[in-house]
Amino acid sequence: MNSEKSFVSWFRDSSPYIHAHRNKTFVISFGGEAVLADDFAHHVHDFALLSSLGIRLVLVHGIRPQIDERLNKLNATANFHNHLRITDDIALQCVKEAAGLVRVEIEALLSMGIANSPMAGSELKVASGNFVTAKPIGVIDGVDYCHTGEVRKIDNAALHQQLDQNNVVLISPIGYSPSGEVFNLSAEQVATAVSISLQAEKLILLTEQSCNNPETGDAIRQFTTSETEAFLFNHANLPDIITLPLKAAIQSCQSGIERVHLINRHIDGALLLELFSRDGVGTLVSSTPFEELRPATLNDIGGILELIKPLEQQGILAKRSREKIEMEITDYIVIERDGLIIGCTALHPNLSEQYGAIACLAVHPDYRGHARGNKLLEYVYTKASQLNLNSLFVLSTQTVHWFIERGFLASDINSLPEPLKMLYNPERNSKILLKYLA
Ligand SMILES: CC(C)(COP(=O)(O)OP(=O)(O)OC[C@H]1O[C@@H](n2cnc3c(N)ncnc32)[C@H](O)[C@@H]1OP(=O)(O)O)[C@@H](O)C(=O)NCCC(=O)NCCS
Repeated sequence: MNSEKSFVSWFRDSSPYIHAHRNKTFVISFGGEAVLADDFAHHVHDFALLSSLGIRLVLVHGIRPQIDERLNKLNATANFHNHLRITDDIALQCVKEAAGLVRVEIEALLSMGIANSPMAGSELKVASGNFVTAKPIGVIDGVDYCHTGEVRKIDNAALHQQLDQNNVVLISPIGYSPSGEVFNLSAEQVATAVSISLQAEKLILLTEQSCNNPETGDAIRQFTTSETEAFLFNHANLPDIITLPLKAAIQSCQSGIERVHLINRHIDGALLLELFSRDGVGTLVSSTPFEELRPATLNDIGGILELIKPLEQQGILAKRSREKIEMEITDYIVIERDGLIIGCTALHPNLSEQYGAIACLAVHPDYRGHARGNKLLEYVYTKASQLNLNSLFVLSTQTVHWFIERGFLASDINSLPEPLKMLYNPERNSKILLKYLA
């Protein structure tokens, strides 16, 4: 019974994320190591689930271990300079073989549909092709990188066409030149270029290791791009499996991708936990802070309604319609956390009589007790002072003491300015609180 209950509440809790992610474009990149792992089929099931939830999905796979394995068999050495493979003719042959084989294996897994398996009924269509045009890196510091290339152009229109048809796009880390040459590319670079070119909502890098603070061992949950840059600067000796994804994240964020997630692929279900639970399990890199308090916009109305609806049902907040919020949206302030509205309030000012009414103050139950209510109130004070207001009123049924502890005085209906008096609903029998501003 308990597990049934927790399943139902987990499923309900994930619904805002399902709505938020639908029709959004996510680019997911993973290394050749992930493809070799025993649990790779689980990842593929998760990709299929994301696609069936209406997410426009581009997968970019790596092939490093597969190339090394082939070189090894040929007794050829893998040559690197500055962490980048030098792709000579033998290595290029290995690149072509590895890319072809890995692509076919992933396509096969995505095509599965055995009854009673997680893929039953998914009927995914996979599109792969010559979406990436590349050019040679050339000679750097006297080192000729031969067939190692860099992305020159992404065929955006062709990718959109595939995504519009609900196809999952699968991209290998190779690119073609207009003269018909093949170049070996890094999967991180391709994923970065594709996400920037598509202006994807998310770039997700499935990594080989969690991103932890080397001093404390603690997982790093959020990073702004400037914090990521400082982290790389202060920890110059981190392995490539950490630095490459972080560098890709910085580059993507600086080119307009709002959220880059680094998720340790070894954690079972990490992708789903990251995308459909409040706090996730990976490291989120974003150019703007993970959580911010800001004036509301029309786009926030859905989130505000979702936050206040349960409080209206409990009679804690007065009911207000979508239209009313829409008309008064410039009065609203919200706290947004990773794309979700977790706090809000409104200050309805009366400029001629120089007072304001605070309304609709709410913080999501999971985030209470960490001064977010205080921060919303502080923002209201700043706004009120900018508008030259002399006093603030609040009507409250169950939160009277919260306001009294913050300097509000219990008052009565006679203290209410006429327009507020007319709106007062005796049935709610709210207490009236007043604060004079200095
Ligand atoms: C009131 C509310 C916005 C506070 O948000 P918050 O982010 O938890 O606020 P803060 O962290 O700044 O303050 C938390 C403190 O307020 C206290 N508090 C919370 N609700 C309270 C209430 N109804 N009455 C008195 N104190 C209350 C908490 O116990 C906590 O006190 P502590 O720090 O001594 O433990 C939030 O509890 C909420 O959304 N409540 C439901 C909606 C509501 O009542 N809105 C007001 C309508 S007028």
